[in-house]
Amino acid sequence: MSKDKVLELRNKIDFHNIPNHVAIIMDGNGRWAKKRFLPRTAGHQEGMKRVMDIVEVAKKLNIKYLSLYAFSTENWKRPQEEIDGLMKILVYYIRSELEKIHENNIRIQVMGDITKLPKTPKGEVEKAMEKTKNNSKMILNIGLNYGGRDEIIYGIKNILEDIKMGKIDEDDITTELFSKYIYTQNLPDPDLLIRPSGELRLSNFMLYQIAYTEFWFSDIYWPDFKEEYFYKAIIDYQKRNRRFGGI
Ligand code: IPE
Ligand code: IPE
Ligand code: MG
Repeated sequence: MSKDKVLELRNKIDFHNIPNHVAIIMDGNGRWAKKRFLPRTAGHQEGMKRVMDIVEVAKKLNIKYLSLYAFSTENWKRPQEEIDGLMKILVYYIRSELEKIHENNIRIQVMGDITKLPKTPKGEVEKAMEKTKNNSKMILNIGLNYGGRDEIIYGIKNILEDIKMGKIDEDDITTELFSKYIYTQNLPDPDLLIRPSGELRLSNFMLYQIAYTEFWFSDIYWPDFKEEYFYKAIIDYQKRNRRFGGI
């Protein structure tokens, strides 16, 4: 798409109605690579570049929370070689982007059980969270070894722990309280969920949080997800009539 066309799209965005929290299932890296007779890891590498771009675009649009699904609890089923490649890319991403992210006042947060990650990526992720913990422009929430069902169990266990300790009572449990016991405790629910790659499913992503989220699907593969697609998703979102069960 030409620069002018991209600008034209951007100008259609209503800056008074920007989704507060956007969640993205970054899918289609493997197929993008296959189409080009490249190894799947090449697709993940190109996908990482789109992460760099999209974080920048999100910041410019004043999006306050950006959740990215990077590695699911089910992705461990993949060949070890691919898992190793993904972990290497994660480490590369943090090492090369952390300074810029920090300068941009972005806070990195993770959802998922990172204790199961190999030592190097786990260390890099912890360092990034610690360094950026006081940043306030945007929260970049990355799903790593993340699964929606896993998260719900994690929340239940945390609640039970607090009941045992006498901090809360069983009768205190409400949907709002529960949302304080899961990974996204300091984040509002997503307003917009984007899934490229043509799949029309959630693949275990943010099951508790997306009760009233607007969905936007596209056939484009994640490595092709340039800023214009982000603008298109937001423009579509702004046409939706969100009723939350009301009239
Ligand atoms: C998304 O792309 C990246 C991860 C799941 C880590 P895929 O690797 O799932 O790509 P496809 O869906 O096989 O094309
Ligand atoms: C979802 O994509 C997980 C991530 C994007 C990290 P998958 O490629 O793992 O999902 P399925 O297997 O197509 O449902
Ligand atoms: Mg996939």
